[in-house]
Amino acid sequence: MTKPSRLLSTVLLTLFALTIVGVVPRACAQHSFDKDSKQAKSRPWMNTSLSPDERAEMVLKQLSLDEKISLTHGNGMPGWGPPRPNAHLGNGGAGFVLGIERLGIPFIQMSDAAYGVRSSAENGRYSTALPSNLASASSWDPQAACEYGALIGRELRAQGYNMTLGGGVNLTREPRNGRTFEYMGEDPVLAGTLVGNRIKCEQAQNVIGDIKHYAVNDQESGRNEVDSVISKRAMRESDLLAFEIGIAIGKPGAVMCSYNSINGDFACENKYLLTDVLKKEWKFPGFVVSDWGGTHSTVKASAAGLDNEQPMDDFFGDKLRDAVRSGKIPMSELDDHARRVLRAEFASGIVDHPMAKGVVDVEGGFEIARKLAEQSTVLLKNADNILPLDRSKLRNIAIIGSHADYGMISGGGSAQVDPPGQPSKWQAHVWFPTSPLKAVSAKIPSATVKFDSGDNPSSAAALAKQSDIAIVFVHQWTSEGMDLRNLSLPDNQDALIDQVASANPHTIVVVESGTAVTMPWLDKVSGVLEAWYAGSKGADAVANILFGDVNPSAKLPMTFPKSEADLPHPQLVVPPPGAQGTAAVMRTGEAKPTFAVKYDEGLKVGYKWYDAENKPVLFPFGHGLSYTTYAYSGLKVTPGAQTAVTFTVKNTGQREGSEIAQVYAALPETAAEPPKRLVGFTKIQLKPGETKEVTVNVDGKYLSIFDESANVWKLVPGSYNIMVGGSSKDLPLTQKVNY
Ligand code: BGC
Repeated sequence: MTKPSRLLSTVLLTLFALTIVGVVPRACAQHSFDKDSKQAKSRPWMNTSLSPDERAEMVLKQLSLDEKISLTHGNGMPGWGPPRPNAHLGNGGAGFVLGIERLGIPFIQMSDAAYGVRSSAENGRYSTALPSNLASASSWDPQAACEYGALIGRELRAQGYNMTLGGGVNLTREPRNGRTFEYMGEDPVLAGTLVGNRIKCEQAQNVIGDIKHYAVNDQESGRNEVDSVISKRAMRESDLLAFEIGIAIGKPGAVMCSYNSINGDFACENKYLLTDVLKKEWKFPGFVVSDWGGTHSTVKASAAGLDNEQPMDDFFGDKLRDAVRSGKIPMSELDDHARRVLRAEFASGIVDHPMAKGVVDVEGGFEIARKLAEQSTVLLKNADNILPLDRSKLRNIAIIGSHADYGMISGGGSAQVDPPGQPSKWQAHVWFPTSPLKAVSAKIPSATVKFDSGDNPSSAAALAKQSDIAIVFVHQWTSEGMDLRNLSLPDNQDALIDQVASANPHTIVVVESGTAVTMPWLDKVSGVLEAWYAGSKGADAVANILFGDVNPSAKLPMTFPKSEADLPHPQLVVPPPGAQGTAAVMRTGEAKPTFAVKYDEGLKVGYKWYDAENKPVLFPFGHGLSYTTYAYSGLKVTPGAQTAVTFTVKNTGQREGSEIAQVYAALPETAAEPPKRLVGFTKIQLKPGETKEVTVNVDGKYLSIFDESANVWKLVPGSYNIMVGGSSKDLPLTQKVNY
């Protein structure tokens, strides 16, 4: 027998044998063909060559009223009131939407996943904790943001979820906001670009992506009662621009409306935000999901553009059905809600890629978490090049700081990721088992590395005195549901650093924080690293940077002010007595905010404020040092639909590194804008002595202003100054161009 015919007979024999034992049904090919063609006839929406819109429309036509309603609401959340009748159908996440089994439409199982999948230990599972979202913004790297999203997407799927509640992009207007770590900093172009890339890659794993909290939910104090008062122009050019860019890049299936009210209407019933801007102007085809308990009405919310209430059905269950039946809500409006949910399911691939739970890749996750932390850790100060540490010169190292022997702190609230096997309680301080003491010791086996918790500053100072250097790990814990009263390090840590630095000027401070911190001791210490909330492998990343195995490249996505007195609102605006709770909101019988935060700094968010007000800062937006140095030259600006900004960067130092080059524009005076705005950026990897020419293409919108009266973006004619350099305060290249 020739080889092919022997092969053929083996296949036939095997098929015959399998048929006899019943593994392959007789005439299986014919059977599956029949099945496919039957399905093609009975479920034509399963045809993947059709568009998500076409597929959603086909399914919509099959739905009963009850099925449509079921797509518009949640079914409870563990811990949110008494369990609902179908609570057992959930996956342990924050919410779920029932599937329509007869039509092949799956459940939507949602989980919080800001910097990793929430509640994994609680559910007997495991998640990687990535560096915080703010840390990730410090990488200024769309590719890193993509890896971030992809990892979360994979771990969501492995844990049985097909929708993320991640992608926070509220701008840092108020740095004391307890959720600053969940967001991407103070600039809309940076924040929007990075969140968009995160969402794009997360969704590519076949999960429905989400961007939140839409919008101007810029503080936690009184978040359910506050009215954010802000001009349309300021909103469009700042907070909303971040969403606009993020949605354009990431195309999330869902947008989560926020708890607060904006200019008098709660976000989840705010027609301007949900319909006029999001759905009409930006042509967002997905669905609007309410923040948890953020729905306040049926008819008003539905008409304004809310599509899905979570986690309950207080307004979008029976009440929505009744309103449709009685004609208060037209069927076409309900259809729009249901169609949008279905469309997101098709567009994200959750229909075509049914859930298959699996095991999370723990080691792969560690690797990514460490790499992302290395790209996110900002070297703020490096006097006399104390860093990187010289292994050959160090004999005694003091590691100081509460928990620095054990781990690094993480951000709390619904973003909280569980450490392995440790379910976390709401707003507990959670330390990930990534030990700075162990990581530093492993880097320098020749030295004696001693630990002091810093609880008693004098004993820590005594240890520092006997050591060649002292590395102090300090932390500032923040969480959803609270704001900081100030930006000082808590628990007497300022005094600790002060005493340690007095005992040994070779003191390096590693800050684990969720936002900016003030540093009254800055002049006394030699080095400062901002490690943010550094995730599962934070200590390894920090040690790699301390010892120069990694050259830091990250830059601040937010300004560090000198003091709270320099903020647009020196005093945090808190709800007055009696202003909190549902009763206060419902005082008039209709949901109304009970107090206001007036964002009268308007366009002047972050560096735009300090620039405009001439206020010196501790560390400017975009600042971050490297172990090498860079020189900029040769700026050429070519205006057009996209303005091409070309320049050259040279690595003038001794080490390979990556420089984040930033492009800013100063608009003509008639535009009445803050002195400058970020319009583009790029990261350039350079070997020692190497030179590269790069071009940053600037979107026309980034040079435009929002004309409130005409409701359009417009380019103001006149002379523009294009500036390029390594931080918002270090811009060696400038060129004037006319538009
Ligand atoms: C938070 C959301 C979160 C939701 C579900 C809310 O309290 O504001 O960000 O996704 O809870 O846990």
